[in-house]
Amino acid sequence: MQKFIINGGRRLRGELALQGSKNSSLPIMAAALLCFGECTLHSCPALTDVYAASRILNFVGCKCTFSDNTAVIDSSAVGSTAVPEGLMREMRSSIIFMGAMLGRTGECTVSVPGGCELGPRPIDMHLSALRKMGIDIRENGGDIICRAFGGRAKGAKISLAFPSVGATENVILAAVTAEGETVINNAAREPEICDLCSFLRRCGADISGDGESRIIINGKKQLHGCEYTIMPDRIAGATYLSMAAATKGEIILTNACVPEMEPFISVLEQTGCSIYTSENRIYMRSGTRLRAVRDRIRTMPHPGFPTDAQAVLMAALTAADGTSVFEENIFDCRYRHTDALLKMGADIQVLGKVAVVKGVEKLHGANVEATDLRGGAAMAVAALCAEGCSEITKICHIDRGYEKMEEAVRLLGGEMRRS
Ligand code: EPU
Repeated sequence: MQKFIINGGRRLRGELALQGSKNSSLPIMAAALLCFGECTLHSCPALTDVYAASRILNFVGCKCTFSDNTAVIDSSAVGSTAVPEGLMREMRSSIIFMGAMLGRTGECTVSVPGGCELGPRPIDMHLSALRKMGIDIRENGGDIICRAFGGRAKGAKISLAFPSVGATENVILAAVTAEGETVINNAAREPEICDLCSFLRRCGADISGDGESRIIINGKKQLHGCEYTIMPDRIAGATYLSMAAATKGEIILTNACVPEMEPFISVLEQTGCSIYTSENRIYMRSGTRLRAVRDRIRTMPHPGFPTDAQAVLMAALTAADGTSVFEENIFDCRYRHTDALLKMGADIQVLGKVAVVKGVEKLHGANVEATDLRGGAAMAVAALCAEGCSEITKICHIDRGYEKMEEAVRLLGGEMRRS
């Protein structure tokens, strides 16, 4: 099992081009299943989750190749509509293949994605929305067997109880080739939803309202292939900004999605960092010790503060002047990284969904284990600003979402290696 070894205390300085977004790539790869013809996806990050998605595509009969951050997916010969449990479990977001397979063939068998590091991640909203679209869904053991009455999903009016990203994606994927009009009320407004819809429009889909809470889709009989560039990864952006801020560094992020990162940037600015943005670049200079964030940092659906950036910002604030308070409103169990931060000398108290972070003088290196993707990234942020050496094990979690994190950190002058 690989680990990261990090020698902390060096200021990160330099320029970094952001990787393509993981959370866009996965639904867009699933969406390629809907297209008759070849899809070429540029800026697709080389991540274990992306490889897992391409294994699912190949299993169901697509030809998916990946090199130099370009995925080429030919879905002309989709054969199977059943994804084995082993493949489903490789990646929790495999559930978005459900909508895509239903849109393509009118049927699919998938399994319940496994219990998660972030607390229970039910799929009740996905299932009830698809049922409204005329899909018969039976659960048998761990299998979910879905079949569209009449062979094709039907447009429907759907109101989500919560703007779930995955449920919104699944409905969009099933609706773009459904019969008639689908309206999604209380849809997720995350930038990755807009990226998915932009891709689908380029393939011939008729979708409007993405980025707002009401999305309208008119089903088309068939979609065609296209060439598309995946948006930059706003959470990787937040992570490298947090690393530079925590180490009193200075960074230029290129290939950045500036408006989409605004909810994070506006909070980071409150720590005293100077931040300047232009079209697709972010310049940030920290220089001195960070200040605690005065307002409570509440994670919310977009355009609120992103839950995926909670852990990395928390790590940066562990050695700030003063006390910061976080409130995690999206997932039940997203503070598992705090034990590792405590081991490194942080002062954090967790009470339900609130975490109170009292800034300490400095952190010290420690051996810790990544608990989940963003939690693992938070440990890397903390280790880079800590005094001494840290080892992070179970970095398979980090590799799910960050393309060669150690190389990015070394490019910025940090000491981080994989062993
Ligand atoms: N939820 C339900 N029922 C459902 C669906 C969701 O109760 O049917 C609950 C979840 O349990 C959770 C909340 O609703 O408490 C939000 O879940 P959502 O469906 O919005 O999240 P997701 O689609 O499972 C995506 C990202 C996550 C990100 C969340 C929120 C992907 C592949 N994953 O997950 O990313 O945290 O949206 O923005 O897009 C990550 O990248 O580290 C990550 C976890």
